[in-house]
Amino acid sequence: MNFKDRDILTTVDLTREEILKIMQVSADMEAIVRKERVSSLMSDKVIAIIFLEPSTRTRLSFETAVYRLGASPIIVSDAKSSSASKGEDLADTARTIAGYVDCIVVRQPAIGGAGVMADAVDVPVINGGDGAGQHPTQALLDLYTIQKEKGTLEGLKVAMVGDLKYGRTVHSLSYALAPFNPEYIYCAPEALRMPEHIVSKMEEKKVPVIQTDKIEEALDADIVYMTRIQRERFDDTAEYEKLKGSYILTRSLVEQGNPDVSILHPLPRVDEIARDVDNLPNAAYFRQAHNGVYLRMALLALVTGAVS
Ligand code: CP
Repeated sequence: MNFKDRDILTTVDLTREEILKIMQVSADMEAIVRKERVSSLMSDKVIAIIFLEPSTRTRLSFETAVYRLGASPIIVSDAKSSSASKGEDLADTARTIAGYVDCIVVRQPAIGGAGVMADAVDVPVINGGDGAGQHPTQALLDLYTIQKEKGTLEGLKVAMVGDLKYGRTVHSLSYALAPFNPEYIYCAPEALRMPEHIVSKMEEKKVPVIQTDKIEEALDADIVYMTRIQRERFDDTAEYEKLKGSYILTRSLVEQGNPDVSILHPLPRVDEIARDVDNLPNAAYFRQAHNGVYLRMALLALVTGAVS
């Protein structure tokens, strides 16, 4: 298994063995950070972090990962400050940046855009979110969090709740966890159901799937993965206004469900998890956000060949 020079664009093709390897290297990275704070594993590497869409967690945890690995980042954190705003296409942007760095991390709004960049260059490209497409590093950090919270990835019942149509995190998570014999409950309003092509793929992979629009049917899961209804994905504001607030996970709902449930959310949250859930031991979403650093350290080290 060799990750050197490999693009990380999607979770669709990752095997069970590859995912377990990434989990193991993430744990190694966590141990390094806890012991040494900063390592010199990648002191000869420069990493481009190109964010043409807003981000707090993905961008800042990649930046932290770069510093903790002893590497140096070059950063675009605003589309207006790059020549993308002058009409430069993604392939030309990638070809240019590839001459400066050892790896490119990119978030941009077009589905498949990270793949366009990867096709144009020889350095590895990591997809930090491509519109309503995929968010593989989020799904992998979700798995790392699940493994830490539950002690296993195997045989879990996972409920995904909210915007499953545009939610790239739940698209990536569905594929990433599929090799570990899960059951899925997809809970969404009719207009935001999981895309049919993903539901069919899960059926092909023999993953049992229940679809519902009632959050009460999600509460006996081992993991409840809440997502935001994403205003920025709607062309029609009236449609967003109709759907926002569809699901609010309250403390009383949590208390009706599986007492051992772990509650995850990729964040940012608007109102889909009530604030008084935050103090419950089941609320894992800020621990989840922090785990992003270790997972992203692992991916950067693997694709640049700093670890194998
Ligand atoms: N979870 C996630 O992708 O958050 P950001 O948009 O803040 O990066």
